Amino acid sequence: MTYQEAVSGQTILTGDRPTGALHLGHLVGSLRSRVKLQETHKQYILVADVQALTDNATDPQKISRNVREVVIDYLAVGIDPSKSTVVLQSAVPELAELTQYFLNLVSVTRLSRNPTVKMEIQQKGFNRSLPAGFLTYPVSQAADILAFKATHVPVGNDQLPMIEQTNEIARRFNQIYDVPLFTEVEAIVPRVGRLPGIDGQSKMSKSLNNSLHLSASANDIRAAVYAMYTDPQHIRVSDPGQIEGNVVFTYLDAFHPDDTLVEDLKVRYQRGGLGDMEVKRILEEVLQETLAPIRARRAEIASQPDSVMDILRRGTAVARKLTASTLDDVKAAMGLIDLKNGTKQWSKR
Ligand code: TRP
Repeated sequence: MTYQEAVSGQTILTGDRPTGALHLGHLVGSLRSRVKLQETHKQYILVADVQALTDNATDPQKISRNVREVVIDYLAVGIDPSKSTVVLQSAVPELAELTQYFLNLVSVTRLSRNPTVKMEIQQKGFNRSLPAGFLTYPVSQAADILAFKATHVPVGNDQLPMIEQTNEIARRFNQIYDVPLFTEVEAIVPRVGRLPGIDGQSKMSKSLNNSLHLSASANDIRAAVYAMYTDPQHIRVSDPGQIEGNVVFTYLDAFHPDDTLVEDLKVRYQRGGLGDMEVKRILEEVLQETLAPIRARRAEIASQPDSVMDILRRGTAVARKLTASTLDDVKAAMGLIDLKNGTKQWSKR
């Protein structure tokens, strides 16, 4: 489903790996819909530092440093801590515990078939030495989702295999332990495709050096727009230009509030007579207007580091209550021993 179809009363869980500051791709792909969803839904946002460590074990400081940056980004784009609960994954040990139980419900073969993980293994050069934690991160992600009893998970298309894995675990758990504990979750996928990097590469990513951060300065924005990939065959202003794969138009679609104007620009560009400089000028203006208030909010929030940590502390405390209760149910369903009360029995409350 798309987020327009999401109905209130549902519980949303979503998250990001804090491997870097967030960029325009995050704004289009997830942040904007989260800002809307928090008005109608119970929403938990997980800063997934444990997951980030699965491929950054040798550089934990990078992850810790970015936790704060990511939370500041959330607040700057309009995530409201009185409406959304922001949670630090490493501070919720229940998630790790739940992961441990779930790991027994998944085969290694199944894990190695996850298309997203497969691709990431290639990209990261893990062919020779694959961290076990990396191969199993989809199980930890399933624990994240199920621990919060989420009904909906807004994610990009690359995350659909994680949702599938989550539902397999949910079904298997219910079946093996014969309890209706977990309900299947549904992905909420963005209507717009993934925002390409400024170089026209498929994905905006820090490692490809083709991204524009939410904290970008006015000069960064200008430089990025003027470096943006357009149509290499569009040499003279009078030449007809191509819209397909033209990053400037993709961004205009994503950010310009006036669709009619953008359609008109497209027609003129394709006919010939509209220069790259002119379209880039229009895009730059839109991006400057989009990012200026975010940058200002960012600076304001960053000047109060204690309040950022407070928000995380409070959200995490709420999360621990919820996940502890799920974990209790899990242990009871499995019939594990509770040292206070003897063997735990699942009871449908
Ligand atoms: N894997 C997600 C990503 O790379 C981040 C994430 C961790 C997540 N836990 C989650 C997303 C739970 C949704 C739900 O973007």
